[in-house]
Amino acid sequence: MLLNRQRRRAVIAGAVTLATAALGIGLSTQFAGAQATTLRAAADAIGKDIGVAVDVNKLQNNAEYRNTVATEFNSLTAENAMKWDATEPQDGNYTFSQADTIVNFAEDNGQSVHGHTFVWHAQTPSWVQGLDATAMRTAMVDHINTVANRYEGRVDSWDVVNEVVSDNNGAMRDSFWLRTMGEGFITTAFQTARAADPNADLYINDYSIEGDNAKSDTIYRIAQGLKSQNILDGVGFQSHLILGQVPSTMEANLQRFVDLGLKVRITELDIRLNTPADANELAQQAEDYRRVTEICAELADCSGITVWGLRDNDSWVPGTFPGTGAALLFFEDYSKKPAYTAVLNALGGGGTGNPTTTPATSDPATTSPPPTGSGCTATLSVSSPWNTGATYSATVKANQNLNGWKVTWTWPGSERISNAWSVTGTLTGATVNGANESYNGTLAAGQSTTFGFNITKADGSTASVPTVTCTPA
Ligand code: G3I
Repeated sequence: MLLNRQRRRAVIAGAVTLATAALGIGLSTQFAGAQATTLRAAADAIGKDIGVAVDVNKLQNNAEYRNTVATEFNSLTAENAMKWDATEPQDGNYTFSQADTIVNFAEDNGQSVHGHTFVWHAQTPSWVQGLDATAMRTAMVDHINTVANRYEGRVDSWDVVNEVVSDNNGAMRDSFWLRTMGEGFITTAFQTARAADPNADLYINDYSIEGDNAKSDTIYRIAQGLKSQNILDGVGFQSHLILGQVPSTMEANLQRFVDLGLKVRITELDIRLNTPADANELAQQAEDYRRVTEICAELADCSGITVWGLRDNDSWVPGTFPGTGAALLFFEDYSKKPAYTAVLNALGGGGTGNPTTTPATSDPATTSPPPTGSGCTATLSVSSPWNTGATYSATVKANQNLNGWKVTWTWPGSERISNAWSVTGTLTGATVNGANESYNGTLAAGQSTTFGFNITKADGSTASVPTVTCTPA
């Protein structure tokens, strides 16, 4: 994972001009004629995280969910699997299988992990809540040490404390943590996390602090104190927003935290509306997503944006606010919403991002004849190069009905694949022999699918684009 962090830092250095693309000012030479068509490639190019909160069961059991998460996002957060009730349900009895699944998936797919969360008033077992001050402190220190140590070097950043401020005029939240340990529980948590993993970025995370208000003022006061002790790196703005209500003060509010020397991050973005959504509402939602993404893209110290779920039906919103929902970037069938396109464009990517898999058409008047002599064709493109590596995206197009495909090419120089997603096979040598995964091999004539990979290469050399031979499997 450290490699992954270095990769994106290198991209930042090499792609400063891309920040202007994100603002619609112009394109760098890297992207002239080759704009990113996934959120991931666009975010990589400007050195930002584009993350998604994931559900372990779907990651394990749903191939299209897995493929979309791997293709579209460069950062993952466990929606529930790293919370205290999932990792230490009984005192000292740690269960990491779900969290491991997510961290392993992220590593396999070259993604970073934003950890969520060590200390929260919710989803914390009752055995913790009943402890006295001394025992609660011991339990907190043990929990943070154990979880942080397990994922040291693999989880890039942590929400150390979550939702410690109430909705009541900026007062501290009246939680069992505050009642038992006093306000010092926050400092204890950050000191412990810093010592446990000195290289991880440590965040304080909360909702309804996106604008300048009493609650964000309290977070600001806490952040000042933690920053002065060098135990805080950033502030997470959850951003569970309502249609048409991106706070007008959001940009200035984030800036005041940056001015403290902190990173900022949009950690749980969703924008809910009254369902069912009509076209106007989806357009307004796209506008709201565009605005939030622009705010982060424009701020060098905004580390990224995480959306709180993949598809509308994956979201926590309808269960908590009945009659509302449709809050995310993908429809239930994985097709991309207008909000997806807005985020892609605000990150500097091009077009609508559609289609990842194009619908087949059988109308001879509108279908160009497939190239003869080959059951499929495949093309590579470099979506974000840096000095010692690059991210590629590849498209496989079926010219006939396929039950599987194989791709092969030989690197002309020092390029070698370091990790890949949505493709399997013998990938790391000079000659690459790839094949479809179980979920993306069946294509009707005219359909296409994508896969991607990162390479390492000699310092400063050009990332070449070899010709790919594609054959039906
Ligand atoms: O795993 C059990 C399952 O075994 C059981 O059958 C089922 C019946 O209710 O519950 C399942 O657990 C649920 C869990 O999500 C996993 O799906 C819990 O009931 C449910 O309360 C829990 O909700 C989560 C919520 O946090 C809990 O507070 C949401 O998925 C999750 O999206 C939400 O995330 C929070 C962030 O952590 C902090 N910020 C706000 C955000 C939204 O509420």
